[in-house]
Amino acid sequence: MKYNSVPDRIPKHIAFIMDGNGRWAQKRLLPRKFGHREGVKTIRKVADICFGLGIECVSLYAFSTENKERPEEEVNALFALMEEYFPKFMGEMLENDVRITVMGDVSYFPERLRAIISEAVEKSKNGKRGVLNFALNYGSRAEIVRAANIAVKSGKQVTEQSFSQLLYTSELPEPDLIVRTGGEYRLSNFMLYQCAYSELCFSQTLWPDFGKKQIMEILNDYAARERRYGKIKQ
Ligand code: FPP
Repeated sequence: MKYNSVPDRIPKHIAFIMDGNGRWAQKRLLPRKFGHREGVKTIRKVADICFGLGIECVSLYAFSTENKERPEEEVNALFALMEEYFPKFMGEMLENDVRITVMGDVSYFPERLRAIISEAVEKSKNGKRGVLNFALNYGSRAEIVRAANIAVKSGKQVTEQSFSQLLYTSELPEPDLIVRTGGEYRLSNFMLYQCAYSELCFSQTLWPDFGKKQIMEILNDYAARERRYGKIKQ
C-alpha cells in the first residue's frame, strides 16, 4: 500500500492538537471521560510510531489553560488519567531512551499529580533518542506574556532569537508540522510564536481513532510540501 512507505523527509518535531475525544465517546453514548481514556491509547501508539520513524520530538496538547473551565468531573477525570499514565509513560520512555518534558503552568495541578509529573520529567531527563513534550495547563498567549515579563524584568531588549529562548520550548526545535485531529481548523492558542513556519495539517479523524494509517498519510503529505520560509525556490 502506498502509505506503508516511509517518506524520505520526516519532521524533526511534530506537534499534535488532540481533538475529538469527547465526540468519540458521545457517538458511543459514553461519558466524555471514556474518550479521553481512549485518547491516551492513541498517545502511546503515536509516540511509538513517531519515535520508531526517527522523529526527534513529539508535542501533545493535553490540557489547555481553557480546559480548566470544563465541568469539574471532566477536569478531575483528566487529572486522574494523568496520575495513572505518567508513571507508565515514564517506564516506556525510559526503555526507549526518550525524555519527557512539560510546558505550561502546572502549579495549578493537585500536588500529588505535580509530584508524579516531576518524577517522570526528572527520571527521563537523560533520554537521548527523543523528546515527548506534554503541554499541560498551557496557553500560548500566557506563555508569550510570561516570556515578555521575564524580558522586562531583565531590562534587556530582546531579539526574535533571544525571545524564543524565554519560551517553554527553548530547548526544542520549532515544530515542523502541527497536526490537529477532529475536523476543526484552528490552533486554539497552541504554539503561536513557534508555529511561524510550521506546516499545518488538519485531519477529520477523531483523536481516539487516529493511528498509523493517518500518520503515514500526513507524513507523506508533509514530505511532498515545499518549505520556502518566505523565500523563493532557487
Ligand atoms: C480535546 O478533545 C482533548 C482534550 C481537551 C484533552 C486531551 C487529553 C488526552 C488525550 C489525555 C490526557 C492524558 C494524559 C495522560 C496526558 P475534546 O474533549 O475537546 O473533544 P471534542 O471536541 O470531541 O469535545
